[in-house]
Amino acid sequence: MGTEISSAVIRRLPRYYRYLGELMAHDVVRISSKELSERMGVTASQIRQDLNNFGGFGQQGYGYNVEYLYTEIGKILGLDRKKEMIVIGAGNLGRALANYSDFERRGFIIKALFDVSANLVGKSVNGIPVLHMDEVPKYLRENTVDIAAITIPKEAAPQVAADLVKAGIKAIWNFAPTDLSLPEGVVQENVHLTESLMRLSYKLRATEE
Ligand code: NAI
Repeated sequence: MGTEISSAVIRRLPRYYRYLGELMAHDVVRISSKELSERMGVTASQIRQDLNNFGGFGQQGYGYNVEYLYTEIGKILGLDRKKEMIVIGAGNLGRALANYSDFERRGFIIKALFDVSANLVGKSVNGIPVLHMDEVPKYLRENTVDIAAITIPKEAAPQVAADLVKAGIKAIWNFAPTDLSLPEGVVQENVHLTESLMRLSYKLRATEE
């Protein structure tokens, strides 16, 4: 199934998931594609098309069962299993990630941070230990880690990513402003706030013309 779903649809799924979660929190049991489209600001046909990718969970005249759809999208996104994470780089950004408790609520558990700085190693952030980079291979042998976040200077990121892959990491959440070339079978997701700001700047410029 996974191979046939377009990346555009996959990109939209977390948003569906968030809206459905909010509906569930308000005890909404079912919703039509029209209602969902009004709330989300996308067309009803887009919603139907997107959700038909997964066998069309909607029923004519009934709409979508919110909890069922939420659960199914969660499964597609792999959220039915908790993910253990490490963060490489316990600087400003690494610490901000460690301090953000919503990840844990979503099943993403940060188990350890790693750094090279003697000022940071041995400390903890939000109760999460900061270990030395030299300990990464041993840590990965002894613990199950699904995802490594990279929050170190860009110059160091490619080598560190290669070392992480060698030590068995299969998924990298990359915040360093550089493109990582990783072997097949290793997945990455890049988060670049500056690029997002540049897109916002473009939109702002368009309003000023
Ligand atoms: P920072 O200087 O506060 O922290 C970087 C940390 O990495 C330091 O604690 C340093 O000791 C550690 N470090 C350096 N080399 C290392 C290595 N080889 N192995 C392990 N740790 C190492 O910097 P900040 O502000 O936290 O930014 C970190 C990275 O995230 C930078 O590449 C920055 O450009 C990027 N960044 C990306 C954002 C995004 O939207 N993607 C937003 C903010 C920062």
